[in-house]
Amino acid sequence: MLKNADNSCDDYYYNVNADFQIRNKIILFITGNFHKFEEVRSILNPMGITVGMLCMKGKEIQSDHTNEIAENSATEAFTRCHLPLIVEDAGLFIDALGGFPGPYSAYVYKTIQNKGILKLMENIQNRKATFYATIAYYSQKTGPQLFEGKIEGKITLTERKGNDNSGFGFDPIFQSSQGEKTFAEMSLREKNSLSHRFQAVNKFAQWYNKQLI
Ligand code: IMP
Repeated sequence: MLKNADNSCDDYYYNVNADFQIRNKIILFITGNFHKFEEVRSILNPMGITVGMLCMKGKEIQSDHTNEIAENSATEAFTRCHLPLIVEDAGLFIDALGGFPGPYSAYVYKTIQNKGILKLMENIQNRKATFYATIAYYSQKTGPQLFEGKIEGKITLTERKGNDNSGFGFDPIFQSSQGEKTFAEMSLREKNSLSHRFQAVNKFAQWYNKQLI
């Protein structure tokens, strides 16, 4: 890409790059989480959309809703790289804890982890929980576009992983209401047939593919 003396690029070059991406259905996924990338890629690839992972740290706002966080992150990322992209924000909302950890999911996972959540849930009968995910797409032409997914389930009594140690984050303690396995006991294919992320990504792909007709 040609650059100006101050290292910036003219809109023309951003547009050439963006047109190429859109024509060839190539999307950048801004994330530092390789597990998320793997899940998103294996949902989008069969739908004819190629995804590249771009690990770019941005500011994440505090909000109660994944929509607001994802939209803000996508807008911020776009102002920095000027190319069609998606970001995702997800969270686990536990009924008996008033929706906690919700928007604090990443911090809670980093600090008290699954064992800490199980401790908080000791002697609690109501174990209902919901995973929410929002995919935010941003391009020059469309601006921010949001796609939501959710799945209801419950917090298990113990951590349960499959033989191949699959899953990440809260997967070992979340059992969807559609089966007996935790997310961590499922194969990628199984998780991707029903997860919050699958639903959001699938809605995005249906919309995106229509834009290109
Ligand atoms: P964020 O969207 O990266 O902020 O995710 C928030 C937190 O929720 C992360 O720490 C993840 O570990 C956790 N999380 C998000 N999605 C999933 C999932 O599909 N399974 C398990 N944990 C998840």
